[in-house]
Amino acid sequence: MRKKIVAGNWKCNTTVQEGVELAKAVTELVDKSGVKDVVVVLGTPFTHITSVVSAVDTNLIDVAAQNCATEAKGAFTGEVSAAMVKSTGATHVILGHSERREYYGETSEILNKKVALALANGLSPIYCCGEALAIREANEQNAYVKTQLEETIFNLSAEDFAKLSIAYEPIWAIGTGVTASTAQAQEMLAFIRSLIAAKFGKAVAEETSILYGGSCNAKNAPELFSQPDIDGGLIGGASLKAEDFLGIITAY
Ligand code: G3P
Repeated sequence: MRKKIVAGNWKCNTTVQEGVELAKAVTELVDKSGVKDVVVVLGTPFTHITSVVSAVDTNLIDVAAQNCATEAKGAFTGEVSAAMVKSTGATHVILGHSERREYYGETSEILNKKVALALANGLSPIYCCGEALAIREANEQNAYVKTQLEETIFNLSAEDFAKLSIAYEPIWAIGTGVTASTAQAQEMLAFIRSLIAAKFGKAVAEETSILYGGSCNAKNAPELFSQPDIDGGLIGGASLKAEDFLGIITAY
């Protein structure tokens, strides 16, 4: 049975102190809820990771970085390597987010280096893909996402591919309050799963957790998560309030 995953992406928000308080609140709510069989991940800024790892119950909550360097180590001022991320106690790393692709020029070539280093250092990538509004309006989203995957994670071995999860985040739904319809989300995630089956076989496809992200919240999560190919969510704004985030975690 593939994992249900609800990952928060705090993006460039919260101080360390605010993040620790948020992490403690999420841990307390998740513990009290008794929710089982959901992998809960907090995607925090680099500065917060060790403090958040110390603040949470790591039997209930995992912590993710939101990026890692393209180099293993060396004279790359300001960069944070996958090994450094691993040394913080983080278990996951969000890679390929549309904001990093758009604002920081992350190409497939760059992402291949990051994914390889993340895997080599024992981190589980949450690998993002998704199209802009113009591509959706042209009904070219399937071809676009297929190319995003074929240029990167589809070049991994089946063994390495099995260590990651995928987050489909239509850019037009990120931060806009305009969530993809349940049908749109299910259709794309089923399509991604069919691509995985064609590339790596049905067993790997059935075991890969595929998430939806883009204005997912406690209100729309139950219907989204009821879909056969939607295994959870990558959550931005709604992950910044513990109660809202719990509403998504318990939406199954
Ligand atoms: O990575 C998740 C994020 O891009 C979604 O943001 O605020 O639409 O949930 P939001």
